[in-house]
Amino acid sequence: MTEMIFDFLTKIGFLHPVHPALTHIPMGMVMGAVIFRFGSFLPRLKVLATTGYHCLILGLLGMPPTIFAGYLDWQHRYDGEWETLIVVKMVLAALLSIVMVALAVIDKPEEARLDKKTGLYALMILLAVGLGYSGGELIFG
Ligand code: HEM
Repeated sequence: MTEMIFDFLTKIGFLHPVHPALTHIPMGMVMGAVIFRFGSFLPRLKVLATTGYHCLILGLLGMPPTIFAGYLDWQHRYDGEWETLIVVKMVLAALLSIVMVALAVIDKPEEARLDKKTGLYALMILLAVGLGYSGGELIFG
C-alpha cells in the first residue's frame, strides 16, 4: 500500500516526503493551545481558554493523518528500519494522542484554572517539542 501511495504521488509530480507537510497542524495547534491557555490567566482574557481548547481539538484532528504520514515516510524513506528515534517518535506520538484525547474529554475551558488540566496543556508542549526534535534529528542527524 505504501508504494502504491508513493507511486501515485510521483505520477502527479509530488516527490517530497508527506509527513513534514502535515506536522505543522498538530505542532502549531499544540503551541497555540498552550499559549492561549496560559494567556487566559491574564486580566480580562479568560475567553482565550476557549480559543486554546479549539486549537487542541483541531490539533487532535490533525494527529491521525500526521501519524499515518510519518508511518508512510518511515516505510518508504527509511525502509521501515527500527531506529531508536523512530521508537521515541512512536512513544511520544502515542503519549501526545492520549493527553490530547483526555483534555478534549475532561477540559472545561470556561472554568480554566492553574490546575492539573493546565499542567496537561504544558505537558503537551513538551511532547510536541520531543516529536519535533526527534524528527529533526532523523532528517539532519
Ligand atoms: C508514529 C508516529 C510518527 C512517525 C513514525 C514519524 C516519523 C517521522 C520521520 C520518518 C521523520 C523524518 C522526515 C520524513 O521522512 O518524513 C519525521 C519528522 C518529523 N516529525 Fe514525525 N513521526 C511520527 C509522529 C509525529 C507527530 C505526531 C508529529 C507532530 C505532532 C511529528 C512531527 C515531526 C516533525 C516536526 C518532523 C521534522 C520534519 C518536519 O519539519 O516536519 N511526528 N517523523
